[in-house]
Amino acid sequence: MDQKEAVNRIAYLREELDRHNYNYYVKNNPEVDDYTFDQLMAELTSLEIAFPEFFDANSPTQRVGSDINQEFKQVAHRYQMLSLSNTYTEEEVQEFDQRVRKLTDDPYEYVCELKFDGTSISLSYENGLLIRAITRGDGEKGDDVTANVKTIKSIPLRLKGDFPPEFEIRGEILLPFRVFEMLNREREEIGEQPFANPRNAASGTLKLQNSSVVASRKLDAYFYHILGNKLPDDGHFELLRHAASWGFKISEHTQKCKDLQDIYVFLHEWNIKRKDLPVATDGVVIKINSMRLQQDLGFTAKSPRWAIAYKFKAEQVSTRLNSVSYQVGRTGAITPVANLEPVLLAGTIVKRATLHNADVIKNLDLHLGDVVFVEKGGEIIPKIISVDLTARHPMSEPVNFIERCPECNSLLIRQEGESAFYCPNETGCQTQLKGKLEHFIGRKSMNIDGLGSETIDLLFQNNLIRNVADLYDLQRGDLVKLDRLGEKSATRILESLESSKSVPFERVLFALGIRYVGETVAKKLARELKSINQIASASRDDLTRVEEIGDKIAESIIDWFNEDQNKKLIERLKNQHLNFEIVSDQKEGQTEKLKGLSIIISGTFRKFSREELKEFIELHGGKNVTSISAKTNYLVAGENIGPSKLEKAQKLKIPIISEEDILELTN
Ligand code: IVH
Repeated sequence: MDQKEAVNRIAYLREELDRHNYNYYVKNNPEVDDYTFDQLMAELTSLEIAFPEFFDANSPTQRVGSDINQEFKQVAHRYQMLSLSNTYTEEEVQEFDQRVRKLTDDPYEYVCELKFDGTSISLSYENGLLIRAITRGDGEKGDDVTANVKTIKSIPLRLKGDFPPEFEIRGEILLPFRVFEMLNREREEIGEQPFANPRNAASGTLKLQNSSVVASRKLDAYFYHILGNKLPDDGHFELLRHAASWGFKISEHTQKCKDLQDIYVFLHEWNIKRKDLPVATDGVVIKINSMRLQQDLGFTAKSPRWAIAYKFKAEQVSTRLNSVSYQVGRTGAITPVANLEPVLLAGTIVKRATLHNADVIKNLDLHLGDVVFVEKGGEIIPKIISVDLTARHPMSEPVNFIERCPECNSLLIRQEGESAFYCPNETGCQTQLKGKLEHFIGRKSMNIDGLGSETIDLLFQNNLIRNVADLYDLQRGDLVKLDRLGEKSATRILESLESSKSVPFERVLFALGIRYVGETVAKKLARELKSINQIASASRDDLTRVEEIGDKIAESIIDWFNEDQNKKLIERLKNQHLNFEIVSDQKEGQTEKLKGLSIIISGTFRKFSREELKEFIELHGGKNVTSISAKTNYLVAGENIGPSKLEKAQKLKIPIISEEDILELTN
């Protein structure tokens, strides 16, 4: 075969194979048998070997993955990946509708979709080709898992039809129940820990380093959110139809709803029918259909104003309580865990349930051997809802909370007004020490990859580390001596420790693991007080002046900085040059020309995308607001501006300006 023939045949085979994949994995309606498919694939594979100049990263042959271990690069999301606020009742759905109604006078429609319970993914397409797949990560940036995603057969690598030149599409990667059960059976046979639920199995699979293993796991994906500048329709529902025509798997159960009644019907119907679906769902997502209205409504800090999730009521089952064990957390808090007679609940086997603290045990009046009702909440571990007192054995023993730490035998303490018991042995209890180290290296903390809990264990056993400052004293020689750790891992650990020194202050503060100082509190503290010295010397009043910080948190911070041990720790970390103050993040071109101005934008613009315009406003010190009020200073109007917004602005006599005008304002 000459080159010209080859190129034609290759193109033909790729198209055919793409089509068969689509028919089989998206439409569930194969046109050819497996044998024919395999023959075509074999032919394409050998042609691609014979003519390597026609290699194409999006060829159907590339879906088999590779067994070369990959590392995931972190990539920033072009559009932040936010989550939805949850509701549990029809009243809350009605309140959502009322909130929307207050914000717009235009008529609107809703779309109801199933809320798939897997792991979310954002795909970028350029000129019809899949170029990148990123996990949600922290919403701002995620892992580039393109190689793994390419192995998912229902995800198109090359689009059909009339698609926009550039867009992102978001959806959920899922492991169907049937595949999940098979996988867990296999894992148990070879002595591996089974996955707790299909969601964990899906996200675990997506993060495997070996993409050929991912290919064998049979993941599936549904898509529900399209983002881009030149989309072919204003309706979300209509856009999903378009996406289906480009080759994406879109749930056929998505439905337009004109009012609350329609929505309630959908909720009732799917509360029952979801049990027959091949994949896990945990609710319904209710969205405003018009993209223009979606943009006008905008977002709160965490979630869109144009959508909410309605979560299905969790299923309950009864089972027996066999025993209670106790876990020690990194702050010394003791969490009791119920060990249950294994029972099937919402598609998965449940063996344990969290009991949170001593009060929960007391309130349930729990006895060993009790028949208890368990339910799965939002978390992976289910909880005990109630006890079947009629089934209680008259001689059964009540569950008595332990008095000593199960790890170090210290007498537990409980502070007044608190429900948790603590092990006070902060500097000697091994489990606490390891927990603190694990927290410190975590992704949201110092993000020291190369170090995981197993390596921490190893370093600990070899007396190389006891606290987080010891990490920075580790020498190459210490590391390479250890079992299972080679030169390469040692280099990686040392490099990531080094690069952790540029982690911003707010995350260092979070990483220290001060009780009650979570991510948000750390951020607020860092922004207000600016440096570790300020925080360490802050009074209770200084601290409680910071938003979200009350007496309990303030006290915990003061206590922490009063401990000699912690003072020494901070000194050592300072000597290692970790970031202990806010580094000014002045951006290029930053001014204060729009300082104090509340500016709303509406419509589409010629020079800027909406995102760019928002960034521009913020760069010049202005505040981009999403709903109009008497306090709004300007409305920047683009094309197709919503009529109600315009009317409201006119009524409130808010100056309406163009994108050119706002440029002028900053000149
Ligand atoms: S829309 C701005 N639609 O639920 C939010 N999300 O808590 C856009 N999810 O992270 C998300 N099914 O992983 C949307 N039909 C659906 C969904 C869905 C599942 C997940 C998604 C998201 C989370 C939101």
